[in-house]
Amino acid sequence: MSDTTTDAGAPMQEGAKAREVRGYADVSGPTESKMVEQIGSQVARLKARLADVGAVVVIASGKGGVGKSAVTANLAVALVARGARVGAVDADLNGPSLGRMLGLLGSRLEDRPDGIVPARGPSGVLGISTELLIEEGAPLKWKGPDSDKFVWQGVTEAVTLREFMSDVVWGELDYLLIDIPPGTDKIGRFLDLVSEPDQVLLVTIPSEVASSVVSRSATQLKEAGVACMGVVGNMSGYAQPGGGDLLPLFTGPDISDVAESAGLELWAEIPFDPAFGTLTDQGAPPGSDGDSAAARAFAALAERVEQGPGGRESQR
Ligand SMILES: Nc1ncnc2c1ncn2[C@@H]1O[C@H](COP(=O)(O)OP(=O)(O)OP(=O)(O)O)[C@@H](O)[C@H]1O
Ligand SMILES: [Mg+2]
Repeated sequence: MSDTTTDAGAPMQEGAKAREVRGYADVSGPTESKMVEQIGSQVARLKARLADVGAVVVIASGKGGVGKSAVTANLAVALVARGARVGAVDADLNGPSLGRMLGLLGSRLEDRPDGIVPARGPSGVLGISTELLIEEGAPLKWKGPDSDKFVWQGVTEAVTLREFMSDVVWGELDYLLIDIPPGTDKIGRFLDLVSEPDQVLLVTIPSEVASSVVSRSATQLKEAGVACMGVVGNMSGYAQPGGGDLLPLFTGPDISDVAESAGLELWAEIPFDPAFGTLTDQGAPPGSDGDSAAARAFAALAERVEQGPGGRESQR
């Protein structure tokens, strides 16, 4: 790993040029900080970059391991199959997996004066992830003072996420998908950066525990004023390898009941399909390709997103 760091303190690939925005360590003194100016210009840059994006689509849950990243990767591919230009941000800085799922591993990020050029996966999805900045198998380490880690690490993470959206040369995009890590606090942190995402997909599985977390997340998003939200019920049944009826996987509540009790529409039900999962983890998410129930579910979900706020079909 290179010793170079981004302004957020995250490692950058060798050969990449350090950016000129100052990081946490440089802004600690009141006289030299220019903190207000710095934040102002960062916010302006983020706004300018998102002006070229048709819709920011957030994929969140609150709960871990329910398939947020798999849904993000397959939805991205399904949208590209419909002719959309799609970028994806892996907002899971500490436990990234979206880069791998989009087949981005091994890509080099080019640092240009106008920003970092994102990696392009085999399906045409553009993406950025800390997975592209650290060596395979190495844990992510944030640089900074050992004391008060809990304070500066949160700031550093927020800055990195902001950079992932504003300092990356996305070009014109129809959709920028954001894969939010587990934890309802992470949803709140994202809303601090982008207060009005166009669409939010809340991913859950038919388990009591996951569903109660998702209801909490729905309330949090509603209180924050997010207008367009839908529930994605993942692992809604087991798709047997040879085909046939879906088998039940969980004994928890029906996903449609979960959506209804949260006052939300159910946008998709995606079965647990082992072959689909394997391809996704190998960096070749099928999206809507093929005639499996999972592929059909992603085709329908992509259509729903296209018709939603900011979507291409809502503008026709
Ligand atoms: N419908 C599905 N069919 C088969 N496998 C799936 C399905 N959904 C998710 N998986 C697999 O389950 C695993 C966990 O999914 P994923 O990493 O997307 O969850 P996550 O919610 O993003 O987790 P985290 O909270 O850690 O970010 C992955 O290996 C993924 O490919
Ligand atoms: Mg994930």
